[in-house]
Amino acid sequence: MSPELTFRKMLYKISALALLMPASGLVAQTSVAAKVTADLPAGPMQAKATTACLECHEARIILQQRLSKPAWTKEVDKMAKWGAVVDPADRDALIDYLSTNFSPDKPAYEPQRTAVEKKGSAPKNY
Ligand code: HEC
Repeated sequence: MSPELTFRKMLYKISALALLMPASGLVAQTSVAAKVTADLPAGPMQAKATTACLECHEARIILQQRLSKPAWTKEVDKMAKWGAVVDPADRDALIDYLSTNFSPDKPAYEPQRTAVEKKGSAPKNY
């Protein structure tokens, strides 16, 4: 085989790889996007909370909270003032739902990271 032919074969292989790479990147991105958009937990108020509370922001801002019942009461009333549509008949049940699922005695929220997880210790940026 002439050296030139080998070189051409290599070039062909490299360009084939270059063509494949953006496609695999796209697939990875789609699955990450699906993963970070979490749902509110199951429960009698899940559907109503989803409608009332995920209109302006995604669930994570709620999932990461660990608040007492009085704090959830303030939070829900604040969100209603900001425009959340909460039927007054549902207000107490919604506060119960949130303070049951996201109380201070629940384990800390584990944020979903969009970057590929690395083995070993976290990078030290501090
Ligand atoms: C009209 C839009 C809107 C609706 C509907 C809404 N929120 Fe919010 N919420 C906001 C905004 C704006 C912020 C502050 C955004 C930020 O910091 O990124 C926020 C922030 C939050 C926070 C973070 C703590 C804070 O006070 O900033 C929590 C918890 C929260 N919302 C819960 C809820 C719950 C529970 C509901 C449903 C009852 C709800 N939100 C509905 C607009 C809304």
